[in-house]
Amino acid sequence: MHPFTISLLLLLHLLVLCVGSHAAVETSFTAFRKKTGRSTLFLSATSGQRENVDAMISHDRRDLLNAIMTASIINYIVHPVSAVAAEEKSPKPTFAKDIYGTDLAADRFVKARSGPGDRSLVMGLKGDPTYLIVDDSGVSLEAFALNAECTHLGCVVPWDAFQKKFICPCHGSQYDASGMVLRGPAPDPLALAHVDVDPDTDRISLTKWHEPTDFRTGVKPWWI
Ligand code: FES
Repeated sequence: MHPFTISLLLLLHLLVLCVGSHAAVETSFTAFRKKTGRSTLFLSATSGQRENVDAMISHDRRDLLNAIMTASIINYIVHPVSAVAAEEKSPKPTFAKDIYGTDLAADRFVKARSGPGDRSLVMGLKGDPTYLIVDDSGVSLEAFALNAECTHLGCVVPWDAFQKKFICPCHGSQYDASGMVLRGPAPDPLALAHVDVDPDTDRISLTKWHEPTDFRTGVKPWWI
């Protein structure tokens, strides 16, 4: 979420909390007076005593309001920031889908492939064409997937299993098996995504690559 949006939401929420807190305190005081009968005491008190009681209530109310305001501000500052941080640390997964939009099950998907090193297209993050890779064991998937869009102008790059390269049909860029550029004009390697398998449903999940380093280049990924 954009920092400006977070700030705006924070201010709006603070405003709502202040109004809500004040109303809640007023309600509590009314109930408190009814319960304790302080209003009855007022009737029989002298004017000096009434002033003292008024001052006491006013003081109590100010303390309570201050406490609520302080707690609200702390909660508001700490909670959204930690929530956004948690979201960024653990982005929501997308389940890999076939061309019919059906979630893919890892076991069946791998068994239907040609063996170790197979690279097959699925629908990935945001519906992007994405290559899932069968690892060397031949029975499971690599922990990363490759976005199939050429980093030159976005053509989908087919995998040539014989040459073991991705070769772009549009302007001839070539990428090696891990998506690194072998020949331009593509300026950057194919983007990465994380691959996991849901232990309960066996569905293949993809999440955005959020680490600060691209393990192939050793530098910051160009797509984040
Ligand atoms: S779009 Fe792939 S080389 Fe131009």
